[in-house]
Amino acid sequence: MEKIAIYPGSFDPITNGHIDIVERGLKIFDKIIVAILRNPAKEVLFTVEERKKMIEISLNKHSNVEVDIFDGLLVDYAKMRNAGTILRGMRAVSEFEYEFQLALMNRKLNREVQTVFLMTGLRWIFTGSSIIKEAASFGGNINGMVPPVVSRKLKEKFGFISSADE
Ligand code: PNS
Repeated sequence: MEKIAIYPGSFDPITNGHIDIVERGLKIFDKIIVAILRNPAKEVLFTVEERKKMIEISLNKHSNVEVDIFDGLLVDYAKMRNAGTILRGMRAVSEFEYEFQLALMNRKLNREVQTVFLMTGLRWIFTGSSIIKEAASFGGNINGMVPPVVSRKLKEKFGFISSADE
């Protein structure tokens, strides 16, 4: 049976740390579904459609990666997609408490779905979407921390290049 993992998150925007987790995950799973949560309650920089497009472009060399948008409970979405695993990346110990809570709640909601954590590569330990957005908002150089399409879109969003420059 095909081993499918759901890699859920906000991905606002996707970073090289996320890509690293997907690529590590592909060594374990036959297919990974990157699932973006549609969450109207959360303030975001990019629309879900923009985020989906950037992820698709960034991961287009992997035919066994799909990008999708979901709402509602993650375990329900996993079941609907026949995925037995939720994949999450873990960078620092500070993330453990939140991840632990999330994994335990998901297990309570559906015992059939397992959460698997993968550690990001060392070089991505100190980067994340929020800090990258902050740097980009002040015109900081974020090349190398995010895929090229994301770097371009961030510069565009914060007015450091116009889409006409492309
Ligand atoms: O990248 P994030 O923002 O930390 O991802 C959080 C995400 C999307 C994995 C989590 O908020 C989620 O799964 N939300 C969907 C609702 C749900 O099932 N919540 C967990 C049990 S209440």
